[in-house]
This record gives sequence, C-alpha cells and structure tokens, in this order.
Amino acid sequence: PCDFPLKGKKVVVTAGPTREKLDPVRFLTNFSSGKMGYAMAEAASRLGAETILVSGPVAIEAPRNVEVVNVESTEDMFVAVLEHFDSASIIVKTAAVADYKAKEIHPQKMKKKDGEVTIALEKTTDILSELGKRKSHQILVGFAAETNDVVHYAKGKLEKKNADYIIANDVTEEGSGFGTETNSVTLVGKNDIEVHFPQNSKKELALQLFHTIIELEKDEAL
Ligand code: PMT
Repeated sequence: PCDFPLKGKKVVVTAGPTREKLDPVRFLTNFSSGKMGYAMAEAASRLGAETILVSGPVAIEAPRNVEVVNVESTEDMFVAVLEHFDSASIIVKTAAVADYKAKEIHPQKMKKKDGEVTIALEKTTDILSELGKRKSHQILVGFAAETNDVVHYAKGKLEKKNADYIIANDVTEEGSGFGTETNSVTLVGKNDIEVHFPQNSKKELALQLFHTIIELEKDEAL
C-alpha cells in the first residue's frame, strides 16, 4: 500500500482538555494531557495529510509539520474546528471537552464565604453532535472515555452524534486513558464494526487506528 495514503487530504484533530472559566482566576477542566490527540495528529501528518491540530491547554510539544491552533474554552474549540470543517476529509475529536460551564462567569474573583457555595452550571455545545448535523463528505471520528460498558456506550454515541467511528477508551484500565503514554481502545463503526486494539504506545496506536480507518473507507471517499 501507498506510504502516504492521506496525501492531498486535510485532517483536523482536537486534543487536550478544554477550560471553562468560573472567575478570572479559576476554571473547570479535566485530566487530559493531550498525548492521544497529539499522537493522532502526528500519525495523520506522517501519512501525508495536511494536519490541523486544535489544542486545549497542554504541556507537551506539538508534532512537526502540523498547524497548531491553541484554544481554551469549548466554544473557542468549536469555532476553530468549524473554520476548517468544510475543507476537511477527516475530523478526529480526541479532546476531552468539558460537558458543563458556569452559567455566569464572575467578572471579579469570587470571595470566600461561610458555608456552602453553589455554582450553577449549564451544558457546553456538544461539538461532535454539531459536526454530525453538518456533515456531508467528512469522516467524523469521536473518542469516548468510559468507565464501564465501554463498547455499549460507544455504540450509543456513534448513533446519537451521527459519527462514522467512535474510538472507545476504558479509562479504568491500567496504562490506558488520561495522562498515560500507552492506551488500549476499541474502534466502533456502523454495520457492527468493532476492532479491538490491545495496549500499545499512543503513537503506535494512532498509526494503527488511521490505517484501519483508511482500509475500512477505501471504497468510500478515501
Ligand atoms: O489526552 P490524554 O491524556 O492522552 O487522554 C486521552 C483521552 C482519554 C482524553 C482520549 O483518549 C479520549 O478518550 N478522549 C475523549 C474524552 C471524552 O471527552 O469523551 P466523552 O465520552 O465525554 O465525549 C465523546 C466525544 O464527544 C469525544 O469525541 C468528545 O471530543 C466529544 N464532545 C464531548 C462533549 C462536548 N461538549 N463536545 C464534544 O465534541
């Protein structure tokens, strides 16, 4: 097979956490290090794609030959992804997007008070679902971090979000999930596609995932 199967294609990868501000000094976020998403971007670029990496705040170095767009909030990430959506062939949503944001961002630092404090939260935009609604030629790949019934929930998200593939991650498995160098996942697709990838470095796994998706799509757009 061709060494650069994604040559001439544009791939957009999102990575890392998003940050939702509570006030000027505090925010809500999660433990995503960006490693899995950065590995996906590196793999796309190695396979010949023009690669856009939309990244939340992380402390790792970007792969070479990749255009990095740095974002903070879920809303920023949505805007950045939409900008490249029409011209993209594949969108990979590895980012651990915050599901909730503060209903109002306090303009000043919140002061300590006696007793309990309640912060009202509201849902953020579900970027993957929004892309699922707008999809035409694009192959839409989501990730799913789960702690139980991993494949079952991934299949649910595949349908609900109108994605083409969901890469399901059991984040309770030793050496898998948030922050680790390694991961093990199951790729779930339409028509009962279910491919398990045993534990491997995130970089190697990313290459295997792209090769598998390219193979599965070879009669379609790719
Ligand atoms: O960054 P690392 O430390 O290497 O860790 C990797 C990882 C565990 C973060 C990664 O492998 C992973 O599983 N990412 C998805 C985490 C996640 O947010 O899963 P979810 O089930 O909450 O979301 C499902 C999908 O919807 C994801 O593609 C997510 O990007 C997307 N989503 C979720 C919420 C939202 N508001 N908008 C979205 O687009």
